[in-house]
Amino acid sequence: MDGNGRWAAARGLPRSAGHRAGAEAVRRTLRAAVEAGVEVLTLYAFSSENWRRSEEEVSDLKGLMLYYIERELDELASEGVRLRLIGDPSPFGPKLVAKLERAVAQTAANDRLTLVVALNYGSRAEFATAARRLAEQAVSGTLDPAEIDEQRIDGLMQTAGLPPLDLLIRTSGEVRLSNFLLWQSAYAELLFVETLWPDFGGDELKSALAEFARRQRRFGGR
Ligand code: FPP
Repeated sequence: MDGNGRWAAARGLPRSAGHRAGAEAVRRTLRAAVEAGVEVLTLYAFSSENWRRSEEEVSDLKGLMLYYIERELDELASEGVRLRLIGDPSPFGPKLVAKLERAVAQTAANDRLTLVVALNYGSRAEFATAARRLAEQAVSGTLDPAEIDEQRIDGLMQTAGLPPLDLLIRTSGEVRLSNFLLWQSAYAELLFVETLWPDFGGDELKSALAEFARRQRRFGGR
């Protein structure tokens, strides 16, 4: 969800206004995804590198997430959205963590769309944790290193149990993955669009899905 800052700067507004507009884009895009029958939507809300931002901006984003959950949770739940988290939200403090956990529990039985929010998430840290777990199991004698295969690693990723990633969209013209779902995107279709995140919504999602439908996926075959 890139481009909030530039959207705000272009209007002479503070970055926080860009993030607020970004949260509205989340609302629109999520509704459109539910309507389009998307099974899983993962949003990169905060990367493990985003701590380099000013304290004020981090605190604005935290406040926005709290506000968003308070305002949207009931509606999300009634629309059949299940919330799931990847990353480690603990540095955001117990208040947000408790709210997120309650939201995850409240929506656990829903099955129309799974909304995965990546918060303080980084793909390389996810790999490192998986590697540590495997090493611990090997050292304790519960795992023979010869048994380590892709499936086992996949099961240790925070996305375990979710379907394979089909389409990865990055907004705002940046052409990088920035430590997002690196393992999971091995065969994903990548789509880089110029639209700044606050301008994203149903129409943009529909054209992204149409572009995805035009791609020929060969998974290494011919
Ligand atoms: C990147 O734009 C955006 C973020 C770091 C924050 C995204 C968060 C939200 C949209 C808040 C709401 C989220 C949820 C799940 C309710 P940027 O600030 O890097 O933009 P720039 O590259 O133009 O500076």
